[in-house]
Amino acid sequence: MKHTRWYKDRVFYQIWPRSFCDGNGDGIGDLWGVLEKLDYLKSLGIGGIWFSPLYPSPNADCGYDIADYMDISAEYGGMEAFEKVLEEAHKRDMKVIMDLVVNHTSDEHEWFQKSRRRIDPYTDYYIWRPAPENGKLPNNWDSHFEGKAWTWDEVRQEYYLHLFAVKQPDLNMDNHFVREEVKRILDFWLSKGVDGFREDVITFISKKEGLPNDPLMPSARGIRYYNHGPHLHEYLQEFKHEVLDNYDCMTIAEAPLVSPEKALEYVDESGTNEFDMMIQFQCMCANCLFLDFIPTPFSLRRLKHAFSNWQKKLNGRAWNLLYLENHDHPRVVSRYGSERFCVKSAKMLCASYMFQQGTPFVYQGQELGMTNWYPESIDAYEDVQTLNQHTDWPEEKRLKLYHRASRDSARTPMQWSAEENAGFTTGTPWLSVNENYTEINAAEQEQDQDSVLNFYRKAIDLRKRLSVVKNGEYREYMKFSGKVYMYTRREGRKTLLVVASYTEKAVKVRPALLTGLPEEFFDAKNCVLTNNSVNANGASFTMRPYEVRVYYSGNV
Ligand code: NOJ
Repeated sequence: MKHTRWYKDRVFYQIWPRSFCDGNGDGIGDLWGVLEKLDYLKSLGIGGIWFSPLYPSPNADCGYDIADYMDISAEYGGMEAFEKVLEEAHKRDMKVIMDLVVNHTSDEHEWFQKSRRRIDPYTDYYIWRPAPENGKLPNNWDSHFEGKAWTWDEVRQEYYLHLFAVKQPDLNMDNHFVREEVKRILDFWLSKGVDGFREDVITFISKKEGLPNDPLMPSARGIRYYNHGPHLHEYLQEFKHEVLDNYDCMTIAEAPLVSPEKALEYVDESGTNEFDMMIQFQCMCANCLFLDFIPTPFSLRRLKHAFSNWQKKLNGRAWNLLYLENHDHPRVVSRYGSERFCVKSAKMLCASYMFQQGTPFVYQGQELGMTNWYPESIDAYEDVQTLNQHTDWPEEKRLKLYHRASRDSARTPMQWSAEENAGFTTGTPWLSVNENYTEINAAEQEQDQDSVLNFYRKAIDLRKRLSVVKNGEYREYMKFSGKVYMYTRREGRKTLLVVASYTEKAVKVRPALLTGLPEEFFDAKNCVLTNNSVNANGASFTMRPYEVRVYYSGNV
């Protein structure tokens, strides 16, 4: 089947279903709720939806622990609701992609239940090891969420490997029966009409033979032996040639710790092209060291380096996935912008990434400038990753870190209106609503021409109309500035310039001088998007706090 790369002309929206919109009043978001909001997404200019897992799950990790890959959770409305959403999304020319989580399953999956009882062919579906004689664990690997990576199973009387939570046992991808299952899952959804997959920690699926001890890493021990493991390409090729190539679909790899050089091994369009795009983490590490729970001060230079490095290295060879938020990180306004200048900085951040080359993803609530959540007690948190961080610290200290780093901040209910529970549900929300919903909500932003929501609409619309955003050459200026991000995109006579301030202080910029663009380029009429209320004119100007200006000259 011809691979048309339709994703290059679309902006995607990520729905984290539990918190998007509750259609039946049980306090949990569902697909009936999504159905009500499809026109909202369309009006935003969205051309595709990525659904975080919708499958039946005990929710030890909010759906990333799957108990049945070929069904839709009853909580979310079941298969009937999904088919309706799929049909209605397609009618509106919106693609739909699913989350494929095959590094691990839930321990409540039938496969695991049979595997722990040694019922064939499931006996070797997971990574089991007998208890070593020295009384230690089978190796020294850490899990990402809950202590060490091994848990003893009383039923089978062996240890199983789990790189994430205890209730997320890792599949044994070296077993060809398991790979057959993966292909069946891919085919099941694609033949139903879904348009592709975002593949969860897919670079972890092949573990080094012998599962050796990791002598070096101080934390995340073992990762060198399972990230980009020995058979990864082989397995990906198998999935591609036997299933994915039969459909004009899109695949995205979630790839922790990946560099652009490494990414090209998978996404180079003239190479193996096992994936269309990669979710890299560098743009998420401008105020932390890999993990949000290891905070550092925000560094604009680090963020710009990540942006530019990916823009340059993939240029002409592969396609970027652009994002600033998802369900795994706190809100970007609180991380890289300013809650005090919430509206301004939300818009500035939007323009910072929306005009780069690639396919932008907008995470639910990002288009409203939703911010972090500050509950008064640890009991308010639900996330397994959060609740296992620094359990030995005093509560106050833990709470402070969670306020800053927890991914629950991105998981509070979507703020639809100033009504009770932010209009998310008529019941009791499963996770409490951020208190600021009376100020930040979609209904009010619909009425306000200058809202963050309408800024996103304009930015997405512009992006779609200007070919330079898809094709233009990227160049960065003021690289060493800790306050300003400036870049151009050029294609023939068409030029687009983005100048974004990441500070509360006034900053003087001289873009004409730096870029060599003529004075006329900076005429007010060429300022096609800004969060500034004053008339934008002149080739050198002083940026206000978190101001952004987008200039464009050429044919629209
Ligand atoms: C990455 C997912 O995005 C995250 O939410 C999840 O907890 C882990 N993988 C484990 O599946």
